[in-house]
Amino acid sequence: MAVVSGEALENLATENRLFPPSESFARQANAQPAMYEEAAADREAFWARQASELQWSQPWTNVLDWTDAPVSKWFVGGKLNVSVNCVDRHVAAGIGDRVAIYFEGEPGDTQTITYKDLLDSVSQAANALTELNVRPGDRVAIYMPLIPEAIIAMLACARIGAAHSVVFGGFSAEALRSRIEDAAASLVITADGGFRKGNMFGLKSAVDEAVKDTPTVKNVLVVRRTGQDVAWNSGLDIWWHDIVGKQSTTHAPESFDSEHPLFILYTSGTTGKPKGILHTTGGYLTQAAYTHKNVFDLKPETDVYWCTADVGWITGHSYVTYGPLANGATQVIYEGTPDTPHQGRWWEIIAKYGVTILYTAPTAIRTFMKWGDHLPQAHDLLSLRLLGSVGEPINPEAWMWYREVIGGNNCPIVDTWWQTETGSIMISPLPGVTATKPGSAMGPIPGISAEIFDDAGKPVGLGSGGYLVLTQPWPGMLRGIWGDMDRYRENYWSRFKNTYFAGDGAKWDTDGAIWLLGRVDDVMNISGHRISTTEVESALVSHPTVAEAAVVGASDDTTGQGIVAFVILRAGSVDGPGVAQELRAHVAKEIGAIARPRQILIVAELPKTRSGKIMRRLLRDVAENRTLGDVTTLADPTIMNLISSGLSNSSSDDD
Ligand code: WTA
Repeated sequence: MAVVSGEALENLATENRLFPPSESFARQANAQPAMYEEAAADREAFWARQASELQWSQPWTNVLDWTDAPVSKWFVGGKLNVSVNCVDRHVAAGIGDRVAIYFEGEPGDTQTITYKDLLDSVSQAANALTELNVRPGDRVAIYMPLIPEAIIAMLACARIGAAHSVVFGGFSAEALRSRIEDAAASLVITADGGFRKGNMFGLKSAVDEAVKDTPTVKNVLVVRRTGQDVAWNSGLDIWWHDIVGKQSTTHAPESFDSEHPLFILYTSGTTGKPKGILHTTGGYLTQAAYTHKNVFDLKPETDVYWCTADVGWITGHSYVTYGPLANGATQVIYEGTPDTPHQGRWWEIIAKYGVTILYTAPTAIRTFMKWGDHLPQAHDLLSLRLLGSVGEPINPEAWMWYREVIGGNNCPIVDTWWQTETGSIMISPLPGVTATKPGSAMGPIPGISAEIFDDAGKPVGLGSGGYLVLTQPWPGMLRGIWGDMDRYRENYWSRFKNTYFAGDGAKWDTDGAIWLLGRVDDVMNISGHRISTTEVESALVSHPTVAEAAVVGASDDTTGQGIVAFVILRAGSVDGPGVAQELRAHVAKEIGAIARPRQILIVAELPKTRSGKIMRRLLRDVAENRTLGDVTTLADPTIMNLISSGLSNSSSDDD
């Protein structure tokens, strides 16, 4: 029987605490309790009301068409332009002088960009893309640091109806190449490089490597960010400042169908090949704007909002680019890492700009806890009025620390559950309405229907756990996997009938609050980033010394999970001191630094069932130093002894 530790008991006590909204917050909140009933009474009418807050050039005739399930159509027949909604309409409404973006570069350079400035830049960029023959329906890869041009590039694509595919700047040339190839992108927008941890890193060099093998790419558009030397292919490469700078600042936008593709964003699935998640126009923008307004309680006239995500992730799409700009928000973006040039950089930024709403990830919060309270306490954080969390379950201790040390016990916390596939927030408290429990995402927001199913597809009921599912279509849902609709049906819609399977475990507590329990598939969550075990395994076996590899996500105090790889070397390869180091570097080169294993263990055998399936559960037990679980289904039950006993003298490394 498991022994309940003192720490677990303390968690239990914290988990059961309830924080009702303060009266003063509730009085001014955008969200209202009645929204739950309104949405439940008529979901489609509710979503239509949210959609009508956007500017449509042609109204829709039908809110939802679900006849082609699991592919939904929302606001059928409606037409709009996303960039007009995010930029032009604010200028037209007379708020062109409002700051849209405060940019803070890592080296300390800054820019203040108003909505009018943004309109000029997006128009110029749209004209440049048109000059480069980018047409509606084309795909554009964006591989950039977090600088204003990244957002401008996304909006310019949206403006001319080209689908962008943003690839996180931390991904390798190979990861970029495979994504360009899968989407058959005709243009890549990049920068010479960016600043990170006080150094310059290169991006253009990775693009050069990637586009050698991607004949669909006709041009590479390069922003000069760092001034570092770059190789130049005059047949392909064009400086952003040369072609964008000379364009007119006016651009007449075309309207696109509500179901016109807006973007593709690749995310890890359970196979080695990332999935290109497809999002479209009207429904996506409706839900991004609605959630941004109500979950973050945005008051565009007075708030200074800061979401710390990079535009390479879905959070950066929905809550840096589209949600905040659709709502006319003033926001901060920061290029660098939290510890450059010192560990108080974030708190300094909050004090400098008077940030009122902060949205970040549990990994960051736990890192700050480790660094010490004195860092945030050295800065004036009194401007903060709401805190958000996303990307992984937030443990109750981190939640309490966030509330007390960052929020001064005075800010509601919204723990927001959602996915690349859902497009926008799905499960979250509503600030000013929901009483929150530390560590719980509470419940589906108005307009969203979630359930927890058992193996047989029956709701588990209060007090029990199972699989998180979504039982009704929603406007921001993915419309498929780019180029692989069978995989879309198989992945999300085959496990339970007519129900979206999220891949997360969850439980209801006895009060009806939802607790997310992490992934139930072979997807790891490293610092809030999804990486599949198979992807890392494929990278490892592509190294000439590796015969076989098995990868697990082991729990990690800071990053949530850490990657631990068990590797069998090929006959003739010797396990020397540099082997683990070299394999870690190899994975970073194949996928990107975020996928570099925390630890590599060289073993003689892997635990397999009689049908040859690797039993990762047992490897996880080893990686987490636990007593082994049931080994009776192993083809050779003695293997685990061999692995465990061999570990003490194997190559491992956790720098
Ligand atoms: C996890 C990020 C617990 C979950 C927006 C999900 C969370 C995956 C939470 C999606 C949360 C995200 N609590 N788990 N508040 N938010 N997750 O696609 O496992 O990068 O399936 O989207 O992150 O990751 P993705």
